[in-house]
Amino acid sequence: MRFYLTTPIYYVNATPSIGNAYTTIAADVAVRHHRQRGDDTFLLTGTDEHASRVYRVAEEEGIDPKTYVDDIVERYWRELPKRVNAEHDFFIRTTDEGHKRFVQEFLQRIYDNGDIYQDVYAGLYCVGCEEFKNEADLVDGLCPDHGTRPEYIEEKNYFFRLSAYQDRLLALYDERPDFVLPKFRYNEARSFIEGGLQDFSVSRAGQPWGVPIPWDEEQVTYVWVDALINYLSALTYARDGEDLRDAFWPHAHHVLGKDILRFHCVFWPALLLSAGYEVPQQLFVHGWLLGLDKRKLSKSAGNTVDPFELVDVYGADPVRFWVLRSVSFGQDGNASLDGLRERYERELANDLGNLVSRTTAMIARYREGRIAPAQPNEELRGLLDALREKLVERFDAWELTAAIEDVWELVRWLNRHVEETAPWGLAKDEANAEQLDAVLYDLADGLRAVAVALSPYLPETAPRILGALRQPVDLALDGVAYGKTAATDGIEPAAPLFPRIELPTAAI
Ligand code: MSP
Repeated sequence: MRFYLTTPIYYVNATPSIGNAYTTIAADVAVRHHRQRGDDTFLLTGTDEHASRVYRVAEEEGIDPKTYVDDIVERYWRELPKRVNAEHDFFIRTTDEGHKRFVQEFLQRIYDNGDIYQDVYAGLYCVGCEEFKNEADLVDGLCPDHGTRPEYIEEKNYFFRLSAYQDRLLALYDERPDFVLPKFRYNEARSFIEGGLQDFSVSRAGQPWGVPIPWDEEQVTYVWVDALINYLSALTYARDGEDLRDAFWPHAHHVLGKDILRFHCVFWPALLLSAGYEVPQQLFVHGWLLGLDKRKLSKSAGNTVDPFELVDVYGADPVRFWVLRSVSFGQDGNASLDGLRERYERELANDLGNLVSRTTAMIARYREGRIAPAQPNEELRGLLDALREKLVERFDAWELTAAIEDVWELVRWLNRHVEETAPWGLAKDEANAEQLDAVLYDLADGLRAVAVALSPYLPETAPRILGALRQPVDLALDGVAYGKTAATDGIEPAAPLFPRIELPTAAI
């Protein structure tokens, strides 16, 4: 199967927030899972650089906007996937020549199809959202997301006939009940369409920063249109001499936060239909991570938690684990820093880390580091077969949080197995040798399967567990099965996977 996944492209006017890291982490976890299934995958991420805010700030600071974005992108945004250990296949920048060329081609197709007309726009624009607003969108005249008063704008713009796509979009939603997940977001998008669609502006006048409209160089492409097209443009130039659209379009899945649902679930499919492309296969809309005091943890709320700092202190794996474990993926939820510390200590260090330490220590001590297949454990076999099937179901439904719980049930089963079989007792009497062999093999085998199952979430830890058990680093999902641990010797007591952390500041 082909699995092309995209993250939203991030605005570069601020540094990466934990919310941005969340979207990137979730996307990377999903792609790693699909790679385990043997799918042909492609992960795209990148930056959205033509926002008016960027132009304004650069102008204020007297810097050329391209120089300004080059610096921020290199210093912060290319670092984001690296620091959270997301393995993207391409990093797109909307200032790439290949992207700009494609945007112009795309717009020309829509124009030639008669879906664009010229009109005067007079109304309100929120620079924070990069969005035109109606009075009804505002609270006390202010943008509810940014707390700022939108600007009054009057300019000649080109409009896209979104209204003409209402029926086609409704038909699409009817035909494809899993076009948008979770279901309540599908319903939200569908009722927005049902409520009637207004044409929207695809251009902005009076600012040179952006992709020029091909038939009128006085105007630039509206930043959201320019941005959405990245999902397609990237495929045309990510690999020299190859057009990846042949392989990956329309096998596209988009992951995005709930704040940008309408652009993705309504505007984007309409633009694609107009330009003669198939729509993506699926969109998954996730919720927001809320902060300690339930405020949104993001740049606009002024309550920024720096994801790079968290990774420096805890490592990428614990941060990945925490964001997906603490908040049910798809819902809003609290992701407190106390929660990070607690999960690190209780779940990663205790439940998982100690199990690896104890298991390897017992194999070293009682069996001089050797294990070999013994009397098969049918209960464990059943649990592992069920887990493998469950993981596929969970990931198909984007239940990234529930999938961790499924694996954790196995981690708990293994911990109970240690207590119930008490290998230290068995080791006292030679008569129990066979049983001890079986218990130690089962613990090693269960941990090997856990490592494979958790590898999308904990890509650094999984190979360390396999290494401690002297097993090859084979992460294929088939490995979540009983009896795949090869006979080996040389197992030594493993160093703690998640050592105690001394916090450098009280703030974290
Ligand atoms: N540039 C647009 C997207 C264009 S995609 C064609 C944009 N950028 S953004 O940088 O503001 O946000 C990108 C993503 O970060 C969104 O999916 C948004 O939901 C996510 N998050 C930002 N703060 C967040 C939280 N506090 N919690 C979860 N995710 C949030 O929008």
